[in-house]
Amino acid sequence: MKQQTATFRFALPSPPHWAVRLDVAQPPRAGQYVLAECGGPLREALFPADVDADGFTALTPRGHPITRLLPGASVDLLGPLGNGFRLDRVQRLLLIAEADKLSVLRPLLNAAPAVTLVVEGPTRARMPAPDSLPPAVELLLVTLDGSVGYLGPLESQEPAPAGQERIGPLLAELIAWTEWLCLACRRERYPALAGLVRQARLQPTAHFAQALVHTEMPCGVGACDVCRIPTRHGEKHVCTDGPVFDLLEIGNE
Ligand code: FES
Repeated sequence: MKQQTATFRFALPSPPHWAVRLDVAQPPRAGQYVLAECGGPLREALFPADVDADGFTALTPRGHPITRLLPGASVDLLGPLGNGFRLDRVQRLLLIAEADKLSVLRPLLNAAPAVTLVVEGPTRARMPAPDSLPPAVELLLVTLDGSVGYLGPLESQEPAPAGQERIGPLLAELIAWTEWLCLACRRERYPALAGLVRQARLQPTAHFAQALVHTEMPCGVGACDVCRIPTRHGEKHVCTDGPVFDLLEIGNE
C-alpha cells in the first residue's frame, strides 16, 4: 500500500465544515480516499472535495484535530485507496447528493461541459450556497420540508400538496438526458434510486450510474471486514471494491 507524507497547508471554515488543504505527490481522485494519521487511535478516511496536481482539499467537522495543525506540518497518509468515479469523455453529467454528502461529488462539478446537480436536504438552511458552486452548474434543490425547491424525498411517488412540486418527472428526464450519473446518498436509499434509473433508461450500460457508499473503513485493505456490504455478486468490501460501485449492482441486493 502506498504511504505518503502530505504537507498541511491550512484549515479554513467552510460552514458547516472546515476545509483542510494537504499538498501531496499523489492525491486521491474523485471518490477515492486516503487514510490519514490524525492523532486518534485509528487512521481516518479523507475524501477529496477539490483536487489539483499538487494536492487536495478535504472537508472535516469543525474542531477536527487535523484543523489544529500548524502550516507546514507533516501528515502521514496511506493511499490513494479504493475505486473512485470513472467518467469517460463526458459531455452531460448528472450528480445527485444528499446535502451532507455533497463534498465527495464536488471534484466532479467541472468534469463535463453540462453538469446538473440535484441536492436533497432536510431544509433550506442545509442547502449549499449557490456561490460555492461553479457558475455553469445547474443546481436543483429538493427539501424534505418543502422550504425551497422541490418537495422531497427524491424517490417519492406521492402527489405533492397544493403549491408544491415533486422532482420525480424532471428527474426521469435528467436520467434519460445524462451520459453518466454519480450519486452520494445513504446506502439504504440506493435500491429505490436504482429503481428510478431502471424506469428512465431501458438498458443502462455498466457503470452508467455510480454510487459512493459511505461506511466506516478502519483498515482500508480488506482485512478487518468492517466495511462488507451485500451486492448482486456477493459480499464486497467498500474499502477495496468501492467506495464507488455500480448503482445497479448494489441497488438490487
Ligand atoms: S476497512 Fe477493513 S476490510 Fe474494509
